[in-house]
Amino acid sequence: MLGIIGGTGLTQLANLEITHRKVARTPFGEPSGALTFGHICDQEVIFLARHGYGHTIPPHEVNYRANLWALKDHGVDRVVSVATVGGIHPGLIPGMLVIPDQIIDYTHGREATCLVENGKPVTHLDFTFPYCDRMRKALLQAAASAGISLRDGGVYGVTQGPRLETAAEINRMERDGADMVGMTGMPEAYLARELALCYAAVGVVVNYAAGRGLSADGIQMEEIQSVLGEVMLQVRHLLEQLVTNDAAGLCQF
Ligand code: HPA
Repeated sequence: MLGIIGGTGLTQLANLEITHRKVARTPFGEPSGALTFGHICDQEVIFLARHGYGHTIPPHEVNYRANLWALKDHGVDRVVSVATVGGIHPGLIPGMLVIPDQIIDYTHGREATCLVENGKPVTHLDFTFPYCDRMRKALLQAAASAGISLRDGGVYGVTQGPRLETAAEINRMERDGADMVGMTGMPEAYLARELALCYAAVGVVVNYAAGRGLSADGIQMEEIQSVLGEVMLQVRHLLEQLVTNDAAGLCQF
């Protein structure tokens, strides 16, 4: 079953026919909110709002472990994660969608493993390619079928938040090779790997990163809001197409 994790601007899915909600419990506590079960185009999916349904949980306080665990525990085997990002690469402008293929993790102090049991040996998993190729391809295929333009690949630099970055930090991130900056990509992607979930992310560019483009003099929150509304319609369309393609056997992920 497909799990969808919605970020800022996507606390619910208009095209999801909800059947029921469930408050899940996990060994790591409660997820960000009740799991929302429903159908998109007759396909069963579970939706979860990463920041809670009232958007009250900041990125550094999201219980990523409980979120991923609860999805897995309820039959999810593949996950699309939607996350807003700021564009660092000049080609990533507000309103664009991007499917990152790499991650640089700048976060700290977040609970970053589910594989913790007293007395059990430490587990190191391969993370050379942090996203599931099948899910990335399915998203690219869905975008092609739906006529949605979307950028294939890019390095997602994940910062701690909740504050936005300084211009110097963005310059450093660019030197590191980051194309976009957001606050929620990790440890989410790694936890998905630990739980053997086929996971990929849709980056929704909602602003130029600090010190860049129209954010040269600062990031304007009103601009983010105005971009969010429009671009999330595209995201909904993309998800619908993803599920439709899967149902048609066009690109099973
Ligand atoms: N920085 C960090 N996270 C973000 C940004 C940004 O510029 N835009 C959206 N999420």
